[in-house]
Amino acid sequence: MIHSLEVHDVRKSYGDFQAVKGMSFKVRQGSCFGILGPNGAGKTTLLGMIEGIVPISSGSINLLGMDVATQIRKIQPRIGVQLQQNNYFQFLSVAQLLKFYQQLRRAGGPPRKGQSIEWLLQRLGLSDKLKFKVDELSGGQKQRLSIAIALLEDPDVIFLDEPTSALDPHSRHLTWEFIEQLKQDPNKTVILTTHYMEEAERLCDEIMIMNDGRVIAQGNPAELVSGMQARQAIQFQFAKGQFKLEYVQDLADATDLHWDDQTDRLRVTTREVAQTMRSILERSQSQRIDVINFDIDRPSLEDVFLSHTAKDPRE
Ligand SMILES: Nc1ncnc2c1ncn2[C@@H]1O[C@H](COP(=O)(O)OP(=O)(O)O)[C@@H](O)[C@H]1O
Ligand SMILES: [Mg+2]
Repeated sequence: MIHSLEVHDVRKSYGDFQAVKGMSFKVRQGSCFGILGPNGAGKTTLLGMIEGIVPISSGSINLLGMDVATQIRKIQPRIGVQLQQNNYFQFLSVAQLLKFYQQLRRAGGPPRKGQSIEWLLQRLGLSDKLKFKVDELSGGQKQRLSIAIALLEDPDVIFLDEPTSALDPHSRHLTWEFIEQLKQDPNKTVILTTHYMEEAERLCDEIMIMNDGRVIAQGNPAELVSGMQARQAIQFQFAKGQFKLEYVQDLADATDLHWDDQTDRLRVTTREVAQTMRSILERSQSQRIDVINFDIDRPSLEDVFLSHTAKDPRE
């Protein structure tokens, strides 16, 4: 298996503050790798170090088989970077800006077989904007333009920093479809950061959850969710006014019981779904309580995220 990226015990300090506290992970060539974390987790700092923009404090990063600290000039022509904060030359037209970036890239090395500007803009829903000044574009259009810039020279690794944050639903779907097309190419690796669960679940083959400068979980979306199967929630709906919490308070496997006597709903968290289910149904039957409905909640990636990033309230 070929890895496009290998990050080994990387740290970043700004003065006394450690933004990245020793992270290690690998990214498979051809995969879409998602770095998921709340604001301030260190996602942009981490990407900056991988892209060779932010100097690392310690550790090592190997990108496309080369050491980022010493070989960044050889790496740069093969990567495409979409910046989160883009301060483009607002007075240029879209066409001029793209040409400017294309020439800038080519000044750094021999030209690569790039996608045509027309093709990129069409795919990103910007083909009628070539003559527009950058500051005449909407936020979503600017964000998609920054993706087009990242892709100009047909890079092997594409970095997208929160590619759909602040986009309206239509623009977000357009961007997702575009990223899904990029993923079709088995040689291209896409590394993106996001704080949207839905985005990570939809686009990524592998997800790393980070918080507070550390890796807290990694796996494919299904694996991350199945790691949670140990605790699942079951909801029961009983007939009005029949059930009492005392009937089940001694259940061995239940870790959490929530009873709402207004709606006659019971929510139980358990490590033994089948066992807990059986116990509650048996007790309901012996007390002659009608169970109207029950449901087992499959944990979403959001639950995984929350369970890993929740701050200890005592801190
Ligand atoms: N240049 C910098 N100088 C000092 N602190 C910084 C700098 N860049 C980022 N930080 C701090 O590092 C932490 C991680 O920031 P960042 O990487 O932007 O997180 P994210 O992208 O996940 O929101 C934050 O607490 C931020 O304030
Ligand atoms: Mg960021």
